[in-house]
Amino acid sequence: MSDPIPNPPLSSAPEPASLFQQLGERPFVCLAEALYRNIDGDARIRKHFPADLSPSSEAVRDMREFLTQFFGGPDHYSARKGHPRLRARHLRFPIDQAARDAWLDNALKALAEVAQSESLDETARGTIAAYLVRTSQFMINRE
Ligand code: HEM
Repeated sequence: MSDPIPNPPLSSAPEPASLFQQLGERPFVCLAEALYRNIDGDARIRKHFPADLSPSSEAVRDMREFLTQFFGGPDHYSARKGHPRLRARHLRFPIDQAARDAWLDNALKALAEVAQSESLDETARGTIAAYLVRTSQFMINRE
């Protein structure tokens, strides 16, 4: 017999996977485009990235598909490229604390732009920000 009382949630924080359902694709598309638009103008880390960072570039497509997949949307990224293995894919770039901090500046600035243009609520914005802060720190691979 199944237990009629559902298990309580493990945490009161929203599941990242539910954000795509809640917000749809657009905020993640805008976030990928704004992130790379910002990086395009950031001399601290620009050299690590491909020449084309426009909305139609491969770089923006990778980021857009990754973010939508991570937050619960269709798995276009993995269908095209396999398991994300995000840290391993970043090992060919020298990412130290300064590079990470620069990347995160651009990411949080992009998120602030999207929060405004897409009217994201504070909870959604906070969940995405926490993910960007934590995961970017995990990408550090050099002293
Ligand atoms: C939340 C943190 C991050 C996420 C989710 C993320 C995500 C991604 C994704 C999905 C790709 C494409 C990988 C592929 O399919 O080949 C990528 C590429 C890249 N990332 Fe990150 N990244 C993060 C942090 C960083 C940081 C801190 C740096 C430091 C500078 C960085 C630098 C790069 C570079 C240089 C590329 C190659 C761009 C290209 O060739 O298209 N990333 N990242």
